[in-house]
Amino acid sequence: MKNIVTVPSNGYATSANNLIRDKIVFDGGNRTTAWINPSGKIQIVPSIIKNLEDWELDEDAQGDEKSVIIIHNGERYVVGEMAGWLNGRPIFQKDKTEMALQLLLLALQPNPGERVVTVNELLIALPDSRDQNALANLKRIEGTHEFIRNGQHVVASVRRVRAIDETKGAYALAMQHGIFQCRNRINGILDLGGGTSIARLYSEKGSLMRPLDVVLPGTNALAQQIDAALLPRTGKSQNLSLIMDAIQEGSYQIGTSEINFAELFEKAVTRWIDEIRERIKGAWSDYLPHIAEVLIVGGSAPLAKPIETISKGRFKMAPSPQVFNLKGMELL
Ligand SMILES: Nc1ncnc2c1ncn2[C@@H]1O[C@H](COP(=O)(O)OP(=O)(O)OP(=O)(O)O)[C@@H](O)[C@H]1O
Ligand SMILES: [Mg+2]
Repeated sequence: MKNIVTVPSNGYATSANNLIRDKIVFDGGNRTTAWINPSGKIQIVPSIIKNLEDWELDEDAQGDEKSVIIIHNGERYVVGEMAGWLNGRPIFQKDKTEMALQLLLLALQPNPGERVVTVNELLIALPDSRDQNALANLKRIEGTHEFIRNGQHVVASVRRVRAIDETKGAYALAMQHGIFQCRNRINGILDLGGGTSIARLYSEKGSLMRPLDVVLPGTNALAQQIDAALLPRTGKSQNLSLIMDAIQEGSYQIGTSEINFAELFEKAVTRWIDEIRERIKGAWSDYLPHIAEVLIVGGSAPLAKPIETISKGRFKMAPSPQVFNLKGMELL
């Protein structure tokens, strides 16, 4: 790609303007990317990226609440809602650490009007914090980066990057808020996401019981089932992201088309939930009498309300489930 903007390497702010952030937490999911900004506010943008050509967006385009425009190493790209409008591509799980720097630049924000930020620790949620390949990719983020973020020139230094196992933040926050009634028993977290879901158990002592991890379908699989059921009527496959948007909005209407799947939805979501329940029951069968409670988190948690009822509250919904894990990462 053509070099659009060169970032001057002079003009560093004085140390008085150097915002030092002890910790920044970041969770890049298949559907949403979220982090906490310098004012302590949670920012969520759709996980869609688009590399921009000169003609695609004005050079002074600023981004907005749900879109961040970055210029870095001669490349200009946008992540979030605007990337969706410009037909960008979804960021999948497998890209997450390969593209880690591109994505993490979103979260490296100085205070408004300033340009320098030093981050002692950048915490990023990963399915497995021991993945050597992922860790090597993350290591490359340590150091100083100059870029332009939504029109603001930024010089960000990252001292250390730390991978955190998904659900660990949620478990820590649940413990801190006294959400689990029996703290000294096995408790679990069920994270229902867009691409994948995961159910994990934590021992009486609070350690992750990895061999009992259950990786489960996310709403993407539910969207696939809906698409298959619609096929006789539509004649061709629909965009799964639009189906997931329609589920989230509760419109059951695919984009601006006439296609509505409201009457299919109940049956499809029940099947999706039943599969998740069966798989968990199977994987945890030896432990069931010892498990106290399982907290449901993730953006798709509202769909799992029936699990709460069927299990008589043993599975229970977290408050603000979509960002519960991210908030908890601040405690780690
Ligand atoms: N209010 C809602 N009701 C139902 N579903 C919702 C709601 N809000 C969000 N969703 C669903 O949640 C999904 C996003 O969840 P989440 O943000 O946890 O995913 P993610 O973390 O990006 O995905 P993954 O964990 O697979 O990487 C969307 O695909 C959407 O279908
Ligand atoms: Mg997730």
